[in-house]
Amino acid sequence: MSVALAKRNLTALSQLRLFLYFRQTRLLEFMNTDMPGRRVAQTFRDAATALASLSQSAPRLEAELLLTEATGWSRTRLLAWPEAYLDTVAAARFEALLARRLAGEPIAYLRGRQAFWTLDLKVTPDTLIPRPETELLVEIALEVPDPDRLRVVADLGTGSGAIAAAVASERPHWRVIATDCSAAALAVARTNVRDCGLQNVLLLRADWLASIVTHSLDLLLANPPYIAVADPHLTEGDLPYEPRLALTSGPDGLDAIRRIAGTALRCLRPGGLLAVEHGFDQGNAVRQLFRDRGLLDPETRRDLAGLDRVALGWAPPISHGGQSQ
Ligand SMILES: C[S@@+](CC[C@H](N)C(=O)[O-])C[C@H]1O[C@@H](n2cnc3c(N)ncnc32)[C@H](O)[C@@H]1O
Repeated sequence: MSVALAKRNLTALSQLRLFLYFRQTRLLEFMNTDMPGRRVAQTFRDAATALASLSQSAPRLEAELLLTEATGWSRTRLLAWPEAYLDTVAAARFEALLARRLAGEPIAYLRGRQAFWTLDLKVTPDTLIPRPETELLVEIALEVPDPDRLRVVADLGTGSGAIAAAVASERPHWRVIATDCSAAALAVARTNVRDCGLQNVLLLRADWLASIVTHSLDLLLANPPYIAVADPHLTEGDLPYEPRLALTSGPDGLDAIRRIAGTALRCLRPGGLLAVEHGFDQGNAVRQLFRDRGLLDPETRRDLAGLDRVALGWAPPISHGGQSQ
């Protein structure tokens, strides 16, 4: 199914959901009464019921998040004061947000925020929505031995800056280079780096490793696009709303990983580590690809769901010039 067709189907589905929602809440009837507005508890219950029809959603949590977004209230305040009335501005804002969510727009784009690691990051439709499984790359970075030593790390295809910001926040004495070819994504990453108060992240617009100095990196992290261009899953969930540039990479999804692995040895210091996220069914292919490009001891790490998720490979400990780590 094409993305356009999927979006049309989503729109039809969302109209049905919206109709059911309005019928259920008797919104018109409510607007003609003298009541000061809708109560939080009722709004929350009706929205959670409507949102339950969206696949992959956590309806109660999403209803809460949309309500906090619309009212500016904290979750604690909403939960502690369910009998409170929404004012008309908040109610209108909430209805608009709910309608967009029911049409399929990702909740992260509606709120403009996404939690990642310990951070609350800005996201826009120019950036991928950071996923929980990508935190594995951060964990791998933090496992590097002798963490007090200055390390130079690159996060390729940084998007919102999630990986770079998480690593930089945990290791303020490391230097983190974050690259992306998308100027719009880099602008979001810049905001996140600034808002997180990070002084140790350098943002660069670059085509993968093109701007990285030879043998300068201890650690090379990447969550590149890795979905095959014709993958039918691209029409599902949040994917139709996310940038294609962040998702797809050639007929088998591995073009970007091939390019990164192909230049990694030029950029890594002797003994340096390359860690790349990939699809759950790409573990064997990526390990082989690492081996073919001279990376040592390729291994696969699994995510919390037990799925193959990140491939690791090391640069040889002695460089051609005889320098050791
Ligand atoms: C899967 S997203 C990852 C975003 C972020 N690192 C994360 O984990 O949430 C891949 C990123 O790679 C970027 N990208 C795609 N092609 C690129 C290229 N040739 N050079 C640099 N970055 C690229 C996209 O713009 C996108 O931000």
